[in-house]
Amino acid sequence: MDGPRPSIVFVLWGTVMPNTIVVGAQWGDEAKGKIVDCLAQKAGMVVRYGGGNNAGHTVTANGETFKFHLIPSGILNPSVLCIVADGVVIDPAVLLKEISELTSRGLNPDNLKISNHAHVILPYHRILDHLEEARRGKSAIGTTGRGIGPAYVDKAARVGIRMHELIDPVRFEKRLRDVVSDKNRLLTRFYEADPIDVEAVLAEYQEYAKQLAPFVCDTSELVDKAVRDGSGIVFEGAQGTLLDLDLGTYPYVTSSHPIAGGACLGTGIGPTHIDAVLGVAKSYTTRVGAGVFPTELLDETGDYIRERGHEYGTTTGRPRRCGWMDALILKFAAQINGLTCLTLGHLDVLSGLETVKICVGYQYNGKVLDRIPCDLTNLIGLEPVYEELPGWSEELEYVTTIEAIPANCMMYIKRVEELVGVPVAAISVGPAREQTILMPGVDSGLS
Ligand code: IMP
Repeated sequence: MDGPRPSIVFVLWGTVMPNTIVVGAQWGDEAKGKIVDCLAQKAGMVVRYGGGNNAGHTVTANGETFKFHLIPSGILNPSVLCIVADGVVIDPAVLLKEISELTSRGLNPDNLKISNHAHVILPYHRILDHLEEARRGKSAIGTTGRGIGPAYVDKAARVGIRMHELIDPVRFEKRLRDVVSDKNRLLTRFYEADPIDVEAVLAEYQEYAKQLAPFVCDTSELVDKAVRDGSGIVFEGAQGTLLDLDLGTYPYVTSSHPIAGGACLGTGIGPTHIDAVLGVAKSYTTRVGAGVFPTELLDETGDYIRERGHEYGTTTGRPRRCGWMDALILKFAAQINGLTCLTLGHLDVLSGLETVKICVGYQYNGKVLDRIPCDLTNLIGLEPVYEELPGWSEELEYVTTIEAIPANCMMYIKRVEELVGVPVAAISVGPAREQTILMPGVDSGLS
């Protein structure tokens, strides 16, 4: 590519905040929370559109660090309306804990709204998540164990309980008794596990319902109003492109749709109202849980990246698997999400390496593949084809201008941009808002 192409966002919107989807371009944990928080400075609304408390979004602002699992990362900006939309599965206990943490740290949760269409995670979902993983044995997916998959299974099987039912005491009791009676048959007869005590669950969840009811409404109406007002909406993706149920590395995926298309499904907004799709990537690759990872580094370089990048899960604390940048993954993400631009994070982590590598193809069965195949998970013996670039020794943590980026680091950024075919709008050299450096000529709404 001959330099960044003119940004569609800039051409259409000038200084107005476009309706932007923020999507993970790899296997999750790309630090989307920080980018959402930056964009939220200009937006009127931030919408979390999918996943559940399997996600962990860390935001560092004004010297304080916040970790969110369900609450949108825009919440630190008091003028932003934050929506937990219909595509999210909600564990009420986790959401209430986050709300109470916010309150105890002086933040006001009044601008938080929860979709009445969103599905509720119940104790049997968590139990089934663990039982299913145990049953899979060596083929276990390495789920977060939060009941996410079973909650989405119930949604697709049309036996899920939604937020509007949770907050209706009569309807909730009827639905819960019906569902638990079926789940108990499954638990005791198929898994030979203990049954659920329906009375205990009822009492526990009725209490949650009382506390959550003031937040629950038809959020798609609020989103529609924000579209009409032109106040600027940020759609916050959870997980990443390759964890998408349809297009990810199936079956080692999550059970929802982290990709950009998932924002429309999970929010109740038409695709014609989306102006931009910003892909968030790390300068290397990480993955948690099982499944294929062509550029994984099982050596001291992998350990170096893990330790410098603090690559341990926000939700489960598990060490993340680390590896080199995979341009095929980013190219795939650019294609299926329709990325208008990209941010490249954690560049500071790569300082001190003699050389850095980018995967530009996969060698398999005597051929070089140049795109992610559908059955990537099953291609045993596949080997990455690397381009090797000189590394940089300078620490980047305190770099604040593009001019201060070491030449080799800039060469790396430009090569990634060229391989992916999407302009890099910003780079990131640390967790704080101030550690985001904008690339000239690409307006992503981040300025
Ligand atoms: P589940 O979403 O808990 O069912 O887990 C399915 C797969 O997605 C596992 O490999 C998890 O480690 C992975 N996963 C789920 N959420 C995240 C996330 O937020 N970041 C990274 N991986 C995730």
